[in-house]
Amino acid sequence: METFLTESVEEAAKFIKLGGVVAFPTETVYGLGANVFNEKAVAKIFKAKRRPADNPLIAHISDFNQIKLLAKKVTPIAEKIIQEFFPGPLTVVLPKAEKVPLIATAGLDTIGIRMPRHEIAKRFLQCCETPVVAPSANLSGRPSPTDWRAVYEDLSGRIDCILIGEVTEIGLESTVVDCTTETPVVLRPGAISLEDIRKIFPAACLFSPKSNEPVRSPGLKHKHYSPKAKVVLIKSLEEAESAENPKAFIGLSKPTGDFDLIKSCESVEEYAHEVFSFFRECDRRKIGKIYCEEVEEKGIGLALMDRLRRASAR
Ligand code: TXA
Ligand code: MG
Repeated sequence: METFLTESVEEAAKFIKLGGVVAFPTETVYGLGANVFNEKAVAKIFKAKRRPADNPLIAHISDFNQIKLLAKKVTPIAEKIIQEFFPGPLTVVLPKAEKVPLIATAGLDTIGIRMPRHEIAKRFLQCCETPVVAPSANLSGRPSPTDWRAVYEDLSGRIDCILIGEVTEIGLESTVVDCTTETPVVLRPGAISLEDIRKIFPAACLFSPKSNEPVRSPGLKHKHYSPKAKVVLIKSLEEAESAENPKAFIGLSKPTGDFDLIKSCESVEEYAHEVFSFFRECDRRKIGKIYCEEVEEKGIGLALMDRLRRASAR
């Protein structure tokens, strides 16, 4: 399959209407989209990404009226969260409508719904005239793509089209919030922080896999965000500076030691923005070990540490 590259939202949306799969930019990361109501098209997403079938997809909308096509009911919690954070980098999980095919939700009776605020994403979704399910547009297990070249690297020849946009603004995926419960539960931290959500729901909590509950967000148990290089978390620079080459560093400090690649970020936001593309750059340069400096787990720092831990776990 030849992958068509375009900057036209209309051209890209045509592929969706024909039952194809299209990568498109959002403010978080690039997504790989298909019409949620076309089972064959949704199956193509799983195949192209080599995604495990038990990992549910997020449905993307451009219009509040589309929520009722996807959700059986909108809980009072969801109503408030939607009012506050849509459009934006946040996904609400709600009971799914009958009509949503089970392949999209990996057999669950709930569905994740998100309305991106990114201009091109909004225009693309409008042209599609249907909600579009989209996981991140990477091969399963690889770092999420923050620019279209990363999508091309993983999926060229495997998908119908890439809608070309800029480097994504945030660089980490959306906050996923379960709204089927009495208080909101953050299943995956993201750019909308737990602190932000607690301003509206002080009792909102972070899902902890240590508790004895069943897996709420099946995606959380799969291997994630991994470059080929080994990812090592460090609390201070000395731990990395004494190690052997080839090695790379990303964090907030400014190393003076002998690294093959260094990214010193000015803020946690910049660190979050850069981390996935840095992982990919390290792989291109055949770096063996990537030392990632830990950050405080507040604001987007919670999401960043979540991704770093998953990337380092193997
Ligand atoms: O920012 C984002 O969310 C990006 C862009 C493209 O929108 N998408 C994304 O999708 O990161 P993906 O498939 O890589 O991650 C979706 C996450 C997974 O952890 C999955 O388990 C969870 O959302 N999820 C989706 N539907 C769910 C549901 N019904 N219940 C619980 N978790 C769900
Ligand atoms: Mg993903």
